[in-house]
Order: sequence, then C-alpha cells, then structure tokens
Amino acid sequence: MTTHHLAIIGGDGVGPEVTAQALKVLDAAEQRFGFSTTRTEYDLGGRRYLASGEVLPDSVMAELDEADAILLGAVGTPEVPPGVLERGLLLKLRFAFDQFVNLRPVKLLPGVPTPIAGLTPDRCDMVIVRENTEGMYVGAGGSLFHGTGAEVATQESLNTRHGVERVIRDAFARAQNRRNHLTLVHKTNVLNFAGDLWMRTFTEVGEADFPDVERDYVHVDAMCLYMVTTPERFDVVVTDNLFGDIVTDLGAAVQGGLGLAASGNLNPTGAHPSMFEPVHGSAPDIAGKGWANPVAAVLSLSMALDHLDHADAARAVEDAAAEVLTTMTAMGGPDMGGSTDELGDRIAAIVAG
Ligand code: NAD
Ligand code: IPM
Ligand code: MN
Repeated sequence: MTTHHLAIIGGDGVGPEVTAQALKVLDAAEQRFGFSTTRTEYDLGGRRYLASGEVLPDSVMAELDEADAILLGAVGTPEVPPGVLERGLLLKLRFAFDQFVNLRPVKLLPGVPTPIAGLTPDRCDMVIVRENTEGMYVGAGGSLFHGTGAEVATQESLNTRHGVERVIRDAFARAQNRRNHLTLVHKTNVLNFAGDLWMRTFTEVGEADFPDVERDYVHVDAMCLYMVTTPERFDVVVTDNLFGDIVTDLGAAVQGGLGLAASGNLNPTGAHPSMFEPVHGSAPDIAGKGWANPVAAVLSLSMALDHLDHADAARAVEDAAAEVLTTMTAMGGPDMGGSTDELGDRIAAIVAG
C-alpha cells in the first residue's frame, strides 16, 4: 500500500478547527481508495510563540522538509504583532521550500450563492497562478528617520528573470491542460521595470514554446473589474505575488466566500514539499464558535491528494464538498446549516461511500 508522510500545521484561530475536518475526510479517502498516511502534527503559531518565543525552529524546518506534503490551517492572531507569524512561519515555509507556484482555483460551484447577480457556474472557472517567492514579499526596503515627522519608508519588489520565467512556464503548461488561454495580470503602465520584465518574458516564452496557447494581458485594476463583470474571460491567470494575493481574495468572494477558497503552494521540482492551505486566515472574529466553513480546507486537501497522485481520491473529496455545499444555508457563520464539525462529518461520510 502507498504511504505518504504528511506534516500538519493547524496554526491559529479557525486553522486547527478546519484542518481537523480535512483530516477526517482524509481518513475516509484512505479507507475508500486504499492508501495510507503517517501524520505528524506540529504545534506552531501564536500559542507556541507566546509561550516560548519560538516561531519556526530550524529543527522543525528540517523535519518538515522530509514530509511528502504539508497541510496548513492558518496563522496569525491579534495577540502577536502583525508579521511575526505570517512572515516568520508562513512566508518562511513558502520561500525556504521554494514553493514558487501558488495555485488558487476560482470556481463557482453549483448551488453556491455568489454576490455577483446572475453569475452561473459555467461562467466562472479559472485558475490563478500566483508567483510565490519574489515581488513585494521579499521584505526588501528600509526606513529612515523612523518615528519622526521626516520618516521615509521604501518597500521594494524583487523580480528575477529566473523567478518570473519559471512561474510563467508553469502557467502556460497548465493552460495547455485546460482551455489554452493564459492571461498575464500586472500593471505595466506604471511599474515600468518589473512590468517590462514580466511582459517580455510572457511574450517570449509564449511565442517560442507555447504558440498554441492564446495570450491575453490585463492591468490589475481592470482585472478587479473583469473578475466581477466577465469572469468567463479567464482560464489560467498568471501574476506576481502581491497582485495574486489581492485578486485571489476577490476571486474567493466571487466564488461564494473565503470559506470555499483553496490553495496549493507548489514546489514543482519536488526538491522540497508542497504545502496546501485555505486562502483564508485565522478568522479570529469567529474562532472557537464552530462557525468556520471547512470546505476551503477540504478542497485544499483535495489539491494535496491530486499532488500526491491520487486523482480519484482528489475528485471524490471535491465532489463530496460540492455536494455538501448545496445543503448549506450560508457559507460561514451561525446559519451555515451545521457546525464546522458536523459539516466535516457530512463530507467524510460521502467520501466513505
Ligand atoms: P481572514 O481570512 O482570517 O478573515 C476575513 C473574514 O473572512 C473574516 O470576517 C472571517 O470571519 C471570514 N472567514 C475567514 N475564513 C472563514 C471560514 N473558513 N468560514 C467562514 N468565514 C471565514 O483574514 P483577516 O481577518 O484579514 O486576518 C486574520 C489573521 O489571519 C491575520 O493575522 C492575518 O495575517 C492572518 N492570515 C493568515 C493567512 C494564512 O495563514 N494563510 C491568510 C490570511 C490572513
Ligand atoms: C494569503 C495570506 C498571506 C499572504 C499572509 C498571511 C502572509 O494573505 O495566503 O493569501 O499575503 O500571502
Ligand atoms: Mn491573502
């Protein structure tokens, strides 16, 4: 029997609540599809930091690096200054494990209420490929005269030909497996250096190696408009780290809410593990109430199963989540039609068959 070793990081707030549901669903998928996992749960996040000052010790990093995949809930809590956990844990993992593709599907599933009037599932099925190791996220910049009236702060976006090209190539290849259409999203009319690198790379790689894929370009501000008015325009979308962060929250809203939006931080070379997590954060406003929608975590598990070459199990998990969504009366909060735990049970029961 195939066995995979998974590292589990529930994290903060609703992170452990929704991750527990994904693990129940995983138990059911293992039974039904005849594979097994070993799992190590890591106590990382706000509680550990506040108790010990530790965010992500090197010894833990080394262990995580041995996993076949990492499942993460969410990190960040109001008790810890912003950035300590987000940068020290989440971004550190993405960067250190060179997970340069952040794959974020935006798909409206049947029966899910969307805030976009009249939008139907056939018009909303795209995949956003977010660059995940460069851009504004590298933490380059500085501050002069800190805390004075003369303060000056800079924050730089790092873009390398290597980094831009590899994520663009990944996106072109994905487009070939879908509807052969790739949109570059940037802001070339203002960001003259980075935008030029992205556009040239996009055109050169497309012309040379993916001539069958239709290319489109959209400025990021217009992207926010089109995602709402004409999402059918998009198949695969490639963009930089910060633009990708922003437009995928918008995508989450379009597909029914953050409680449904899944993601995979992929290292396509396999040199280090890939990591799967909901797009949403720790949702401190609803933590502990049983009001978190577990579907984003379950769909992230489905992406992990696909990554581990269990396409059948991945599909069964996705279908089960989609089925339960049609029975839900809200996509989060007290009126969902069941607690986080009950919804997890329902999805797991369907997967079990
Ligand atoms: P958030 O995603 O935690 O919450 C935004 C809104 O969405 C809140 O109203 C929340 O209640 C709701 N929401 C989120 N997940 C939900 C779910 N599963 N079901 C129903 N409703 C849900 O974003 P935020 O409030 O900006 O950030 C809170 C903390 O999370 C911060 O510390 C932030 O840095 C961190 N964060 C972490 C990640 C991550 O770990 N990947 C992602 C985003 C934010
Ligand atoms: C996300 C989050 C993270 C990001 C934060 C928590 C660092 O918003 O995964 O979308 O900005 O990438
Ligand atoms: Mn985000």
